[in-house]
Amino acid sequence: MAFAARSGGLATARSVAALRVRVGDWRADGHTVALVPTMGALHRGHGALIEAARRIADRVIVSLFVNPTQFGPSEDFQAYPRDEGRDAAFCDDLGVDLLFAPTVTEMYPAGFATSIRVAGLTEGQCGAFRPGHFDGVATVVAKLFTQARPDSALFGEKDFQQLAVIRRLNRDLDLGVNVVGVPTVREADGLALSSRNAYLSADERRIAPALYRSLQDAARAIAGGARVPAACAEAREQVLKAGFASVDYVECVDVDSLKPLVEFEPARPARILAAARLGRARLIDNLAVIG
Ligand code: PAJ
Repeated sequence: MAFAARSGGLATARSVAALRVRVGDWRADGHTVALVPTMGALHRGHGALIEAARRIADRVIVSLFVNPTQFGPSEDFQAYPRDEGRDAAFCDDLGVDLLFAPTVTEMYPAGFATSIRVAGLTEGQCGAFRPGHFDGVATVVAKLFTQARPDSALFGEKDFQQLAVIRRLNRDLDLGVNVVGVPTVREADGLALSSRNAYLSADERRIAPALYRSLQDAARAIAGGARVPAACAEAREQVLKAGFASVDYVECVDVDSLKPLVEFEPARPARILAAARLGRARLIDNLAVIG
């Protein structure tokens, strides 16, 4: 149950027991706790979550865990960038109080047999292209919530469907966590920060912002009265023309149900969501349609 202290003083818990001891001490002192779940390879997007966490809680935990159950068999679990030393320094600089970096066997010991599936919300968009992905996300997030029992947990709007799934999970299982969504952090050219941007070659990196630009154009067109299916088809064409290899989907959805809309009604909040492939990377992005 030892904590491996770093020179900067940021402790790392490797086990659920060690995590609980630390959180229990904070609770005994009357502190509130926020959790920022991550898979590491931290960037300014994760940084925005940490900063938001610090504003709403006395103590901040960042979990670093590349969760195998949310990767499909042909996906990038092995290749996913891992650099715990760098991530720890990043967290230390931002004033994180504890890293929780469990091993795979700590999270999924032999005999592990439970999976959580959030129906409905996981069927469309990324769920349709990544079978089982959101079951893995829901299962690991439910575990993290019950392990750390935070007051709040912060997630990026960048993964809009994931955020919706986690809100549903939290409500359905009475986990009692204040789930907070944080706006997407972007590069100057509009590309959403992502750990997977590291997969892009220099040429691909130049092409990548076309995804966001196409969504902006589509959102503007829809807000201006264009037909939703036509605007989404146009965005798809733009992304392909820019040099993406393929487009998984471009959809304008109701923000609560994530059901695709045929017509936009300004009184009903809508979001345009997309996923497209560029080289080794599968990039996702989304933005609000403001009527
Ligand atoms: P990961 O991809 O590391 O992302 C961790 C959190 O950072 C997520 O809530 C994600 O939405 C947020 N994030 C990523 N890029 C962002 C950006 N550019 N701006 C704002 N927030 C951003 O998402 C996961 O890990 C995993 O699925 C996890 C929830 C940890 C479960 O394993």
